[in-house]
Amino acid sequence: MTRILSISLSKGGVGKTTTAINLSAALAITKRRVLLIDTDTQAQAGKALGLRPEVGLADFMMGQVPFDRAIVEARPNLDLLAGGHRLAGVKQVIAETDMRQEETLAAALAPHIGNYHYVIVDTSPGWDNLQINVLFFVREVLTPVNLEALSLDGLIEFTRRIEEVRRYHDVELRYVLPTALDRRVRQTQDLMQQLEQSFGSLVCDPIRYNVRLSESPAYGQHIFEHDKRSNGARDYLALTKRVISDE
Ligand SMILES: Nc1ncnc2c1ncn2[C@@H]1O[C@H](COP(=O)(O)OP(=O)(O)OP(=O)(O)O)[C@@H](O)[C@H]1O
Ligand SMILES: [Mg+2]
Repeated sequence: MTRILSISLSKGGVGKTTTAINLSAALAITKRRVLLIDTDTQAQAGKALGLRPEVGLADFMMGQVPFDRAIVEARPNLDLLAGGHRLAGVKQVIAETDMRQEETLAAALAPHIGNYHYVIVDTSPGWDNLQINVLFFVREVLTPVNLEALSLDGLIEFTRRIEEVRRYHDVELRYVLPTALDRRVRQTQDLMQQLEQSFGSLVCDPIRYNVRLSESPAYGQHIFEHDKRSNGARDYLALTKRVISDE
């Protein structure tokens, strides 16, 4: 069975792309076949892996290239279906679909993902018809929350949206991942407690604040290439083990 996860939160800059690329990379290193889909117009996921493919999700969704030509092999076992500004056209396609608009993305991708063990979807901040389509495609959601700027209200609001989608499609919030944890700051411990009170065992061990994580995209490398001994690499490996343990 293919596991389909999105890395989502409506809030920007919480570590979605960092998590999407490093989780995907770690899963691929463990010999799982992974498809990373970038649904963000900024195309950060590809850039962070050192790639700027000319084709991607938009070309596939608009029927301009078949799936096999829309993906690029980013690393061994890791294929990328890139984002980019042309995704604006996809939102238009969705809006013009007559029936079951929410399932446009799922219907297009379903025939092509059977050979992957994991499909990981990086999403953009905000909330639009493409993000709704992502929730109608995935089965599991991993939500990163930045402890430096935690918005519990924003998080609860987002979980309500998942609940609404659940009336029609089997998707669940599976992981809440605190990012940019700095244990020296007392406040972050309180925030961790608050998170655990609201989300219990969904809360994962945090990803610590780590400069290696923030600099690696500039090198076009995931953290296991950039510095596999860094805290960032350790923390993302621990997250990957937890995700694998739920297989
Ligand atoms: N644990 C961490 N330690 C240090 N820096 C981090 C960490 N996680 C993410 N960053 C940095 O924080 C910034 C925002 O992270 P990222 O791009 O992953 O967030 P995002 O949620 O994808 O943002 P957007 O909503 O704009 O797509 C980036 O510069 C990233 O390198
Ligand atoms: Mg991002």
